[in-house]
Amino acid sequence: MAVTVTELTPTTGVEITGLSGSRLVDKAVAEECRSALERRGVVIYREADLDDDDLVAFSRLLGQVVPLPMGGHPTHQEIQRITRDPSKSPLAAYRESTFHWHIDGTTSEIPDRATLLTARQISDEGDGDTEFANTFAAYEALTDDEKRELEGVRVVHSFTASQLLVTPDPSPKERAAWDRNPAREHPLVWTRAGGRKSLLIGATAGEVVGRPADAGRAFLDGLLERATRPEFTLRHRWRQGDLVIWDNTGMLHRALPYGKASSRLMHRTSLAGEEAVA
Ligand code: SIN
Repeated sequence: MAVTVTELTPTTGVEITGLSGSRLVDKAVAEECRSALERRGVVIYREADLDDDDLVAFSRLLGQVVPLPMGGHPTHQEIQRITRDPSKSPLAAYRESTFHWHIDGTTSEIPDRATLLTARQISDEGDGDTEFANTFAAYEALTDDEKRELEGVRVVHSFTASQLLVTPDPSPKERAAWDRNPAREHPLVWTRAGGRKSLLIGATAGEVVGRPADAGRAFLDGLLERATRPEFTLRHRWRQGDLVIWDNTGMLHRALPYGKASSRLMHRTSLAGEEAVA
């Protein structure tokens, strides 16, 4: 089958058709994919239909695969099952927080490099699309004065901040459990060794260092609103078997809401971070 490659928005996303199954598990394909991720942030292989072994094998060609012991997969500890069904994942109760814009691994010293998500079962209701927002492009679109205002700003990221979006009034026990996950301070603007800059914002961004809580919240909300305007976003409407990979260091992402009883089931792998936030 012929391979087609289509750029999706002026800044973000590339969709590839005609590559599926073990044809994807190939060094040259992985190299192309890494290069497309660098340029376009999101790479979509339509109806790739990778089985679990090939998903892990392709992930390994792209980078260092992070083990996910809480992933809920019976045989592959590199795979996390993304579902709201608690019989399939011990993390099902936390899925609602993924309905808010976020970046994975912001409470680690080095956030994840990329995420691979493949649709095992799409939602019967037609909901549960995934959206991406390109913070490289959002940063670039700021004026020079606005960029200067962001210099030196530091933000505290925490699991608690992301959970408060879903449960604003937790019980003391719930709150204490969230707070056991260590928070992490990062610069707001992430400058890569090569000079590119992106914004480290989203659901885990709870406080701006040195600012009163309300002022910090308003500032972060304003920046998130700007970074997620339609010109920076891409919406993926899932088909069974699709494989979507994103540069987690510069793309915010969120799932559009799907119900607790939804049939939606995704298999996900994560690639370890490669560059510390600076
Ligand atoms: C995630 O936030 O990692 C999952 C996104 C999705 O389920 O679409």
